Amino acid sequence: MARRGWMIGLGASALTALGGLAAHDRLQKSHSVLRNYPVLGRGRYLMEAIRPELQQYFIERDVDGRPFDRNARSLIYQRAKGVADVTPFGTERDVDSIDYEWLVHSMTPKPMPDAPPRVRIGGPDCTRPYDMSLFNVSGMSFGALSANAVLAMNHGAALGGFAQDTGEGGLSDHHLAHGGDLVWEIGTGYFGARNENGEFDPDQFARQAAHEQVKMIELKLSQGAKPGLGGVLPGAKVSEEIAAVRMVPPGETCVSPAAHRAFSTPVELIEFIARLRELSGGKPTGFKLCVGSRTQVLALCKAMHEVGTTPDFIVVDGSEGGTGAAPLEFEDHVGMPLTQGLLTVQNALVGAGLRDTIRLGASGKISAGNDVVRRLIQGADFTSSARAMMMAVGCIQAQRCHTDTCPVGVTTQDPRRTKALVVEEKSVRVQRYHESTVHQALRLMASMGVSDPSQLRPEMLRRNLSKQESRSYAELHQWLAPGELLNQPPEEWAADWANADPHSFAAS
Ligand SMILES: Cc1cc2nc3c(=O)[nH]c(=O)nc-3n(C[C@H](O)[C@H](O)[C@H](O)COP(=O)(O)O)c2cc1C
Repeated sequence: MARRGWMIGLGASALTALGGLAAHDRLQKSHSVLRNYPVLGRGRYLMEAIRPELQQYFIERDVDGRPFDRNARSLIYQRAKGVADVTPFGTERDVDSIDYEWLVHSMTPKPMPDAPPRVRIGGPDCTRPYDMSLFNVSGMSFGALSANAVLAMNHGAALGGFAQDTGEGGLSDHHLAHGGDLVWEIGTGYFGARNENGEFDPDQFARQAAHEQVKMIELKLSQGAKPGLGGVLPGAKVSEEIAAVRMVPPGETCVSPAAHRAFSTPVELIEFIARLRELSGGKPTGFKLCVGSRTQVLALCKAMHEVGTTPDFIVVDGSEGGTGAAPLEFEDHVGMPLTQGLLTVQNALVGAGLRDTIRLGASGKISAGNDVVRRLIQGADFTSSARAMMMAVGCIQAQRCHTDTCPVGVTTQDPRRTKALVVEEKSVRVQRYHESTVHQALRLMASMGVSDPSQLRPEMLRRNLSKQESRSYAELHQWLAPGELLNQPPEEWAADWANADPHSFAAS
């Protein structure tokens, strides 16, 4: 009898302790997993502590053998949490391997600049130029992201002085709540700027573009993870609130068509950009694309000459970029990788004598300082990141963005799950992650003898061709001279330049 009483007492104490632990986990604000999965979620942290490689292994298995670089991922978490981001012992990379790329340091490193440089965006037809950070939040819609994720990223952007791209799902109150700078993206669905037939509505557009927080307008042509596909937000995720922001019916699957209806030729596209800029009151206006054919890029350059204006910026998204949902065929097999895409657009603009008025952005697996520097050398003026910013707000790569069951509240509209993400906590992580990444990019540049990004040269990035030999980007790639396409197109470009038609997007 006494033994039974003792057992009951022990059981009750264990239950009380468990209940206490569960309450603590539910209420603490640092760990999203524990807020949604009290006690049980501790298994993840236990695994991390006992055997970090094991946890990494599971994550890498989860992503079908296409990991987000392991070192980069640890860095993002460490920097976001404000944990020291140096590692002991030395590299674990095979630095002899073919295609390994490395930056060239100087024997006379320079001091770092006092303040991070900013990139002025705004060509001759823009009356309200914007000074952009070197690293920003890439487009992710409210709908793909939860309200709390949008809030945390925007607050982080406000704290750190960088920009958040709204993604194509419209401009919501969550984007506006914390005062962070915004790039308002318009996609094929014209969400937030459409009439009842889903066509572009200039009045709606002008009204929204007038928000002081909207610093730039970005027309989305395509996205690296699913170029030429458009997008679908499942009915389950189309809440009343999202429906209102997008101007679509709630509960019904919301489709972004594959193609735009506001224009159908390169000339019409450039005219549309000019119209958006005018309607926005002169804010920098540009487009985002994953490059497909070089001829189409050249057709756009010819169209710029014909119309007599240019976009203020172009964002090149690599086929390695992320998405909330896309068929694997599109993720893996369509579109130009970022390096090629950037080199193509950089050369086309320089060769067509247009580069001076247009700033180039880059996105696609950019998550650390070296990625930023590498992309600047390849032609970019600024960079942005989507998935790394998701990780900064707590994404654990559960890869359930498309199911509305994200366990850490980043990509779900389920209010219970969303609560796991504490905005005040995660916004600081976004700010810290951004600050540290830019800091390391500047540190790298200083070690390369460069005190400003404009001094970066293709000679400063090298690629191994074998264990014994490497070449610089200056040697490996063709770099057109300003206006070269207009004067005397080099042989490798002549056919594409001749075929480029400013009145047709036909690829050849
Ligand atoms: C959850 C999610 C939602 C996205 N939504 C959009 C979008 O609305 N518009 C867009 O242009 N790109 C969207 N993207 C793509 C990113 O803006 C970016 O182009 C790409 O993810 C860059 O790759 P990264 O994730 O490696 O940084 C999305 C990406 C993710 C991960």
